[in-house]
Amino acid sequence: MLDVFINIWGDKMKYCILIGSPRKDGNTFKLLKPFIEELELHQAQYDLIWLYDKHLKPCTACRNCQKDWTIFGCPHADDMQEIFDKIYDCDVVILATPIYSWYCTPPMKSMLDRLVYGMNKYYGDEKGPSLWSGKKLAIITTCGYRPENGADLFEEGIKRYCKHSQLKYAGMLAERDFGYKSEFITDEKIEHSRSFAIQLENNKG
Ligand SMILES: Cc1cc2nc3c(=O)[nH]c(=O)nc-3n(C[C@H](O)[C@H](O)[C@H](O)COP(=O)(O)O)c2cc1C
Repeated sequence: MLDVFINIWGDKMKYCILIGSPRKDGNTFKLLKPFIEELELHQAQYDLIWLYDKHLKPCTACRNCQKDWTIFGCPHADDMQEIFDKIYDCDVVILATPIYSWYCTPPMKSMLDRLVYGMNKYYGDEKGPSLWSGKKLAIITTCGYRPENGADLFEEGIKRYCKHSQLKYAGMLAERDFGYKSEFITDEKIEHSRSFAIQLENNKG
């Protein structure tokens, strides 16, 4: 029996990993790395997008994106169309972010706002479809507080975001940062990260 999840097209699952840490060698990437290595072992396809490298304007609620139900339709000329296309093309969205003020970092928040309108054609004169209905979404996060006090509000917000958008919430990996004087990454955290990838690949999330 195959022990990896095969999607309905018979291909391996395709991941779109969006990282919202400003630090290229920071805690969030250190936690994400073993996850990516495990995906590679499973020969899963993935795109990795560093959101701080992108030009992402905030949503201005113009509702131009509600006029055509088949496209993103956002008039802002920045890097969001490219991100929309990658997400549209994937099976699993991974939000990898440090917790800042109990939520994700600003470029990820801008992206989430642009997507909740651009993907969900709910806000015109008539209610239209969700263009990303049925995709899975999971969180990989790091925070200073214990995860139950540091990452809980972000997880709850994302759970509601998924329900609203008709996405399948697939769980969260959250690990604590004990401060700049201690080494963040440990064998235990590496193992948690690998296990999280295996869990998603086996569709048990
Ligand atoms: C501006 C800022 C705000 C933060 N806010 C929170 C917070 O609200 N709750 C929390 O648990 N940790 C908070 N932290 C700690 C970070 O989430 C934690 O250090 C994280 O591991 C940093 O990840 P990085 O190395 O990928 O940037 C904050 C850190 C910074 C720099």
